[in-house]
Amino acid sequence: MSTTETTVTTQTPVTGLTVAVVGAGGKMGLRVSNNLAKSTHTVRYSETGEAGIARVRAAGREITPTEQAIQGADVVVLAVPDIVLEAVTAQVVPQLEAGAVVLTLDPAAAYAGLLFPREDIYYAVAHPCHPSVFFRRYTDEEWDDTFGGEKAGMDVVGAFEYDAPAQRAMAEQVIRDMYTPVLQVHWVTVKQLAQCEPTLVETVVCMLGDFMKEVMKEGIARLGIPEPAAKAMMLGHIQVSLANSFGGDNPYSDACYIAMQYGRDRIIKDDWRVIFDDAELDANLQQMLHLEHPIAR
Ligand SMILES: NC(=O)c1ccc[n+]([C@@H]2O[C@H](COP(=O)([O-])OP(=O)(O)OC[C@H]3O[C@@H](n4cnc5c(N)ncnc54)[C@H](O)[C@@H]3O)[C@@H](O)[C@H]2O)c1
Repeated sequence: MSTTETTVTTQTPVTGLTVAVVGAGGKMGLRVSNNLAKSTHTVRYSETGEAGIARVRAAGREITPTEQAIQGADVVVLAVPDIVLEAVTAQVVPQLEAGAVVLTLDPAAAYAGLLFPREDIYYAVAHPCHPSVFFRRYTDEEWDDTFGGEKAGMDVVGAFEYDAPAQRAMAEQVIRDMYTPVLQVHWVTVKQLAQCEPTLVETVVCMLGDFMKEVMKEGIARLGIPEPAAKAMMLGHIQVSLANSFGGDNPYSDACYIAMQYGRDRIIKDDWRVIFDDAELDANLQQMLHLEHPIAR
């Protein structure tokens, strides 16, 4: 049965699982492996790339061939690029024991229907939120952990569209362990997660982050504003505008509202809400996944 709830969960710990990390030498593979290695689970690491194999070994971990790594696994974490998930699930999923959970780290391939279908295994997707700008940090290590999964707490948004509490508990446990310290896991639908990532965060937030830097560089190049002055103005105002807009901390001044409206009229297109249309999401994902054909529904 498919569920569509949006919930935040805490749960009784599930210990001693058998977990396989496929793609253990990649950017995410190394991060999740570093944390899973400290968990209560038996963890096996599979990696096929030469550089990735070297990184897994440099981290002091052994490589297990994929076929052995996934044997009897309760949870298989697929830390491979999204564009190979179709082929990797076609190879891995038929070999799993019934009831296993397959956890991907981005919703794109799941939403595009590229994951190998099998009725008696359970797909979960989880994406880290990264530590909030408003997360209260006390130590240098917490400040330095901008990605999350090391010292600063963060939330994770996951999707699991089955009525299978035991499997969802296993998925959540591995999510909490691989991204520790996790504050909360929010469960949404695959489609909602696909609208969070890419639409909310890559299409908008990451684009705006990059755009703000471009604006700063233009101000420096065109007007000769000293870089430290421009940077100080930008970074301080990024914080205060987020605190004002998201937290309601300080009212913007009347003049500021006028300048904000000018910026919106000059830069933002009137029809920007189309980014939430299914066709736009599909076209965006088609490009992200390097698909030759439109996503089939
Ligand atoms: N990089 C990020 O910041 C980030 C953040 C959140 C989610 N993700 C997601 O994490 C997943 C992995 O992304 P990444 O950036 O870590 O990729 P990556 O390219 O850094 O690493 C992927 C690793 O998988 C290995 N690999 C490829 N095919 C394999 C196979 N068949 N068997 C075993 N190993 C194989 C590669 O050799 C490589 O080491 C993707 O789904 C991505 O969307 C990435």
